[in-house]
Amino acid sequence: MQLSFLATALAIVLASVEARPAGHRPPHPPHGGRHHQGGKIAIFGDYGWKGWNIPTAAQCVGLPAVGNCDPSAIASYPQGVAAQETTAKFFGQVCQKHTCNEVITTGENYNHFKVGFIEMYTAKSLQIPWSPSIGNHDIVANTSVQMELDAHKYDRRWYMPSRWYAHDVTVNDVKYHFTVLDSSPFISSYRTNPASPYYSQELINTMNATMLQEQIDFLDKSSAESDADWKFVVMHHPILSTSKNYTSSKDMGGLFQIVEKHKLTVINGHDHVLSHQQGNNTDFFTVGAGSLTAASDGNNGVYEPYIKYVAANATYADNGLALLSGTKEELVVEYYEYLKGAKTPSYTAIVKQNRQYNITI
Ligand SMILES: *[C@@H]1O[C@H](CO)[C@@H](O)[C@H](O)[C@H]1NC(C)=O
Ligand SMILES: *[C@@H]1O[C@H](CO)[C@@H](O)[C@H](O)[C@H]1NC(C)=O
Ligand SMILES: *[C@@H]1O[C@H](CO)[C@@H](O)[C@H](O)[C@H]1NC(C)=O
Ligand SMILES: *[C@@H]1O[C@H](CO)[C@@H](O)[C@H](O)[C@H]1NC(C)=O
Ligand SMILES: *[C@@H]1O[C@H](CO)[C@@H](O)[C@H](O)[C@H]1NC(C)=O
Repeated sequence: MQLSFLATALAIVLASVEARPAGHRPPHPPHGGRHHQGGKIAIFGDYGWKGWNIPTAAQCVGLPAVGNCDPSAIASYPQGVAAQETTAKFFGQVCQKHTCNEVITTGENYNHFKVGFIEMYTAKSLQIPWSPSIGNHDIVANTSVQMELDAHKYDRRWYMPSRWYAHDVTVNDVKYHFTVLDSSPFISSYRTNPASPYYSQELINTMNATMLQEQIDFLDKSSAESDADWKFVVMHHPILSTSKNYTSSKDMGGLFQIVEKHKLTVINGHDHVLSHQQGNNTDFFTVGAGSLTAASDGNNGVYEPYIKYVAANATYADNGLALLSGTKEELVVEYYEYLKGAKTPSYTAIVKQNRQYNITI
């Protein structure tokens, strides 16, 4: 999450992608969402590196050493691309073995749609609908959100009808309801701290209290009206994660009340690890290990009372993804890690209806 790779290339992406005929709006799923017999729903996040148009030293003269001009991010670029490529292959293998029917993303989607998405996730098993959320790296260039909203014109897997939206997926008669939010505006420092690489005019202008409340109300309404067996909020930033103190309850608090009210399960990225947290009768799944990972985002493998699992040790965090499946009574969340192979999950969490956890957060 510390490393910055800004999406400046996006404006030229449109020109560099071969246009394919497609409608203006993403193809809408059938009423009531998509239905599948068998298979699992994949969760994947923090994967976009390849195609970053790294600025030259001359272009960074006079600019702060953050964001696009952050030397440590520039130095990490080859590693970031390599990790993205390795994990893309692994993702394909997991989905081939276990049959994925959808992909939900936790954000940080791409720097360059052609090389970082279309030509990256080429496995046959990944030619399924992708429903992305927007991360902090997806908002830094003021063209980039629009590019993500238009990306379905270049690859029909991409389903992002608006900046925040809800969708249903039914697998074997078990219905999953995902409300996808844009969490960056909730992070107050992005709007108030000029030194933040995410401090942008776009956020300042549009992400005011009204727009935050709109998202909270949208989550409330969408969750209240859904008759799904399992309801989720999907967003980039965590409410509770292994990486302490990153989001403040002051920023995210209003959202959490809605999460508790509707017994939602939280799916997020931002921390570049796979981890599972529990507290206040809520499960929090962090799935942000799609490219360069960080052991520090996984609290260097050190467990706190609310941490149930973290795919990290003192120095290393593994790449991977999660798969969702289950019954009306039990939601099953499996983590697949690169070093442990595609065959079996390294960790399996079972979430029950009316769960009661002792830990408060
Ligand atoms: C954002 O877009 C506006 C209007 O198109 C433009 O004036 C401004 O320079 C852009 N800002 C950035 C950071 O690209
Ligand atoms: C918030 O931003 C929206 C969109 O720019 C605008 O319509 C609205 O008036 C703003 N609200 C406040 C309270 O500033
Ligand atoms: C988190 O914040 C608390 C309260 O400000 C502080 O005591 C603690 O040291 C912080 N923890 C980390 C890991 O920064
Ligand atoms: C952490 O895990 C990696 C990968 O298995 C291993 O190479 C490394 O030695 C481990 N580090 C520690 C401190 O256990
Ligand atoms: C979790 O529940 C406890 C006890 O009801 C409450 O005091 C606390 O504020 C809740 N945590 C959050 C983050 O809302």
